[in-house]
Amino acid sequence: MSRMFISETVRALFISIIIFVSSCGNAVSAGADNKGFISENEFTAHTKGEMGCVTQQCHTQFLNGREFSHGPVRTGTCIVCHSAKEYPNRYGIVPDQGAVCAGCHEKLDRKIKDSLFVHGPVKNGDCSSCHDPHGSGRSFFLRESYSGLCSSCHNLKRMYSGEFIHQPVRDGNCGLCHDPHASNYASRLNDVGANLCVICHEDMVSGMTKEFIHAPLVKTGCNDCHDPHSGDNRTRLKTSADKICFNCHEEKKNEISQYTRKHEPVEKGNCVSCHSPHFSDNRYLLLDKVDSLCFSCHKDSSTWKKKRFQHGPLVQGNCSVCHNPHGSDNPYILRLSFPHEFYSTYMKGEYDLCFNCHKEALVTTEKTLTITNFRNGEINLHMLHVNQKKGRTCRACHDVHASDQEDHMREEFAFGASSIPIEYIKTETGGKCIPGCHRERGYDRGRMVDNTK
Ligand code: HEC
Ligand code: HEC
Ligand code: HEC
Ligand code: HEC
Ligand code: HEC
Ligand code: HEC
Ligand code: HEC
Ligand code: HEC
Ligand code: HEC
Ligand code: HEC
Ligand code: HEC
Ligand code: HEC
Ligand code: HEC
Repeated sequence: MSRMFISETVRALFISIIIFVSSCGNAVSAGADNKGFISENEFTAHTKGEMGCVTQQCHTQFLNGREFSHGPVRTGTCIVCHSAKEYPNRYGIVPDQGAVCAGCHEKLDRKIKDSLFVHGPVKNGDCSSCHDPHGSGRSFFLRESYSGLCSSCHNLKRMYSGEFIHQPVRDGNCGLCHDPHASNYASRLNDVGANLCVICHEDMVSGMTKEFIHAPLVKTGCNDCHDPHSGDNRTRLKTSADKICFNCHEEKKNEISQYTRKHEPVEKGNCVSCHSPHFSDNRYLLLDKVDSLCFSCHKDSSTWKKKRFQHGPLVQGNCSVCHNPHGSDNPYILRLSFPHEFYSTYMKGEYDLCFNCHKEALVTTEKTLTITNFRNGEINLHMLHVNQKKGRTCRACHDVHASDQEDHMREEFAFGASSIPIEYIKTETGGKCIPGCHRERGYDRGRMVDNTK
């Protein structure tokens, strides 16, 4: 780009010289009538810079006829910039125009000198690549419309390559984000990170006060994910929505890829169906409280909330303590193992899911007066049912989510195509069960019930 920039300048210079010489030539021929250059000598002296260029007859076009005219030009003090004597080949302009302009524009000059990032043409003192130093039809004496100005040196095609162009860019309002001269932020941005964007995206301002803000927004703003100029999708994400999270969360990518069962929305890369990429009132940037989030897709499950009894973790809305929302090697994306059948040969470890919170002694102690209430006298009925070759699994009796029966006893059990009802009656000291498949059986912690009768 800088090569193109140099050649453009040289060309502009060359053309200007031709115009300069020919316009002065006209002045000579008209000079005799219009009190212009009286003699050949006077004209030569003018071009050599031995005389000021404030010869009104020669350059009247600079003094009027422009909508926006520069102060010193209006007053005819051409001399502050032109000193033909010193630089006769550059219309008497010091090579570093910046130095000339700095004399009057001290504030801007100080800003340029104090800034970490100075724009190429400004650094080169080439102020007139953007400004016509005399005046122009545009405010700030710009030579071109804002975007036209920038595209005279920058290849905006690359910037506009995506189908979706950000509106301020399409409108050529580069200056809303970039300072044309200098700034302390890379790419000479007007402000840091998110501030740059929230001036227009006001709805994001309130979000920035939420309890949980995604780290990149605080660190770098919005550019890690969004291209500020253009892109291939509506939100101009730098990487497609189903992959962008893995740019930084590689550990999650590796973790998920290892699971034999992946939760469907995760498998589809739809992370934003559960997480906000920006901010949230909920931990882990979740779009909603965990259970409401799950129920938003698992609509049938929301009926659990209407049941009389809900299992402890459900009361807390904590589905993810048992389910890994991303995936797992266990059925039902459960974090730990839990047999899904009616019968299962007891093995240590297979009920890890439950014994994460409950005591394993529940199924390993034959006789007890303390470990469980599900006992007949001192016989532990949990051990009796579960810990054997053809053991009943927990889900044979309990519903892990919610139930209208006490002690989370399930109301029915799916058996083939039909379902068998289970009626559980709790007493002060025990209980009895009338399942659809066999006769009533009971237990009592004080006086053992004889079920053989
Ligand atoms: C604020 C500084 C400044 C003032 C004041 C100024 N000029 Fe210039 N002038 C320049 C610069 C810088 C250039 C070189 C422009 C370029 O690089 O394209 C220039 C170029 C010119 C040129 C040659 C190219 C062209 O644009 O035609 C003429 C002629 C000229 N000036 C005449 C004048 C006259 C006459 C006045 C006073 C009425 C004047 N200038 C006042 C800065 C100034
Ligand atoms: C002799 C003092 C002087 C010099 C030298 C000078 N300027 Fe100015 N400039 C002014 C004044 C005074 C104004 C105030 C606005 C007006 O009346 O044009 C101004 C206004 C401007 C503006 C418009 C600012 C606005 O807020 O509208 C621009 C752009 C500008 N100058 C650029 C330049 C450039 C580029 C140079 C060097 C090539 C330069 N000036 C050199 C005195 C100067
Ligand atoms: C890349 C194009 C570009 C270059 C090069 C450039 N300017 Fe500007 N300048 C602008 C634009 C665009 C504005 C309009 C105001 C804005 O958006 O900040 C402006 C505004 C100004 C203003 C008025 C507002 C202010 O910030 O004070 C002055 C004075 C000025 N420029 C002077 C200069 C001087 C002196 C130089 C050279 C050292 C220079 N400019 C180089 C594009 C440029
Ligand atoms: C909404 C704010 C915004 C607008 C409007 C904007 N930019 Fe940018 N621009 C940025 C940001 C932010 C960066 C830094 C990009 C990054 O770090 O990924 C940047 C970087 C750049 C870069 C350097 C890096 C690159 O991608 O080559 C150029 C050149 C550039 N912008 C030119 C322009 C031009 C020209 C316009 C107007 C047509 C414009 N910008 C409009 C925000 C903006
Ligand atoms: C006269 C040619 C020229 C014009 C006109 C021009 N630029 Fe540049 N720009 C350059 C050059 C040369 C560089 C590379 C040197 C550098 O990094 O500053 C550059 C670099 C940049 C950069 C990235 C580098 C940085 O500073 O971090 C941005 C952003 C940029 N320009 C934006 C703009 C915008 C916006 C405009 C329109 C107001 C514009 N440019 C007009 C020549 C130009
Ligand atoms: C000058 C105001 C302005 C600034 C500054 C601005 N934007 Fe925008 N942005 C808009 C407008 C207007 C739209 C809507 C355009 C449309 O709907 O096509 C938009 C749309 C968007 C969209 C797409 C939203 C959607 O639902 O389609 C994203 C993403 C976006 N901007 C991000 C950013 C980022 C990131 C920044 C900071 C680098 C930023 N914007 C700075 C004005 C701005
Ligand atoms: C970690 C990546 C990331 C960061 C950082 C980020 N975004 Fe987004 N943004 C996204 C994703 C992904 C979407 C698409 C969400 C969707 O499709 O539902 C999006 C969507 C948007 C939208 C469209 C409307 C919406 O809310 O869905 C706007 C506007 C937006 N972002 C602006 C911003 C602004 C402004 C910032 C900086 C304050 C920012 N983004 C920072 C990833 C990010
Ligand atoms: C530019 C890098 C980057 C991108 C892209 C990114 N993140 Fe992050 N994310 C981070 C950083 C840094 C943290 C904070 C450090 C950490 O906890 O790992 C974080 C934290 C998080 C957290 C909170 C972790 C916790 O323990 O509290 C979640 C959830 C998250 N990101 C989800 C996403 C999702 C979903 C996406 C895609 C829309 C995404 N991230 C894209 C960098 C990124
Ligand atoms: C079905 C909803 C859902 C989807 C889809 C989802 N997550 Fe999560 N994610 C969660 C929940 C819920 C948590 C909190 C886990 C907890 O409570 O332990 C979480 C936690 C996280 C965390 C922080 C804690 C941790 O486990 O490391 C990161 C990072 C994360 N998710 C990234 C992602 C990424 C990346 C994607 C897309 C591949 C994604 N998530 C898809 C629901 C989801
Ligand atoms: C964006 C929609 C969506 C959200 C949110 C969601 N799921 Fe899912 N989930 C699905 C889809 C789709 C399937 C696969 C079809 C099915 O089994 O219903 C699925 C399947 C499941 C399965 C069965 C998995 C298997 O391998 O058999 C469980 C268990 C599950 N989800 C639990 C949850 C939990 C817990 C949450 C909240 C953390 C949650 N889901 C949030 C869409 C979602
Ligand atoms: C105590 C552990 C635990 C908690 C907490 C838990 N689940 Fe489950 N979930 C399971 C088990 C075990 C299964 C396997 C099916 C069964 O045994 O009934 C399952 C199955 C599922 C299924 C698929 C089959 C079905 O019954 O529809 C969905 C969907 C589901 N859970 C959603 C949720 C949601 C939503 C929450 C939070 C409101 C939640 N789970 C909380 C253990 C739990
Ligand atoms: C044959 C049916 C049945 C099976 C199988 C069963 N339970 Fe129970 N469970 C009960 C009954 C009945 C109660 C209520 C005892 C009372 O309060 O009278 C109970 C109570 C409980 C309690 C409350 C504390 C206590 O022990 O009184 C927990 C915890 C519990 N069961 C966990 C489990 C776990 C874990 C499994 C699987 C390893 C399981 N149950 C298997 C019938 C069963
Ligand atoms: C995250 C901890 C946690 C996990 C894991 C867990 N539970 Fe519970 N469970 C509780 C809490 C807390 C209570 C007490 C509140 C209540 O009655 O639901 C409870 C109570 C129970 C009760 C009823 C106790 C009574 O006195 O009525 C049964 C039955 C039960 N759990 C079975 C299970 C089974 C079966 C599993 C394995 C699938 C399991 N739990 C996994 C926390 C957990």
